[in-house]
Amino acid sequence: MIIGLGEALAYGQQHGIAIAAVNTPFFEALVATIRAAEATGVPVILQHAQVHEGEMAIEDIGPAMVALARRSDSPFVLHVDHGEDLDYIERGFAVGFNSAMIDGSRRPYEENVAVTANVVARARELGFGVEGELGVMTGNENGDPSQGVADANLYTDPEQARDFVARTGVTALAASFGTVHGVYHREPHINYPLIDELRAASGVPLVMHGGSGLSADEYRQSIAHGVRKINYYTYAAKAALDAARAEAAKPEVILFGKVAAAATAGAQRDVTAFIRTLAGQA
Ligand code: 13P
Repeated sequence: MIIGLGEALAYGQQHGIAIAAVNTPFFEALVATIRAAEATGVPVILQHAQVHEGEMAIEDIGPAMVALARRSDSPFVLHVDHGEDLDYIERGFAVGFNSAMIDGSRRPYEENVAVTANVVARARELGFGVEGELGVMTGNENGDPSQGVADANLYTDPEQARDFVARTGVTALAASFGTVHGVYHREPHINYPLIDELRAASGVPLVMHGGSGLSADEYRQSIAHGVRKINYYTYAAKAALDAARAEAAKPEVILFGKVAAAATAGAQRDVTAFIRTLAGQA
């Protein structure tokens, strides 16, 4: 079944957990995430980021995401991740997505406010929630870590977060407090007091990007300090690749179907463990 972003985050708030938000730009990751959600019984956010377009168009995988979510008894949100403009987000809405992130974080502040408020106005017409971003996280949503270490100069300022949420009306805020996208080349240091300040100043649920590569304790502490949505892609995609490589190396395997099934199983194990950790089941 499909539920709204606000409803999923309210579930997270009520149960003191974070909702897993998993990018599924290939079919094996999608099936794996659907099965993992069903096994754990908590809402899950299925995401497609604009940066995945080079590998998979939202018009190709999006309808499959919507159909599998609709047919399941588990609750799912269909979310455009890191939409750079309203045009791309509209492409997601056109295939049945009901939630979006507008990422204006690399634009000058006033431009970020304007572009985000514009997306919120459009989403409100449709009854959809919007995630905005303030502060810069390096790397991208396609596993590219760029420098692989968080830059404290780019952390989100709590006073600016207060202003941003008040002026844009976003449902949730992605903020920079120590994580980066992709693989970490140096140990991440999450600034928990900053999460507290951002939560209090913004008044909305916080979103952590770059969920791959953190310890169970780092997830738990981040959740305890107010993070309610954690984005995850690199490690799930890597688990699929590791399983596929092992399967493809078997001499008796001569057809791709076996490799694809192994990739699904590998991603499913990884995503199930991730969801369970966020949901306090592990
Ligand atoms: P990771 O690839 O580091 O898990 O981050 C995913 C993400 O933040 C997508 O928006």
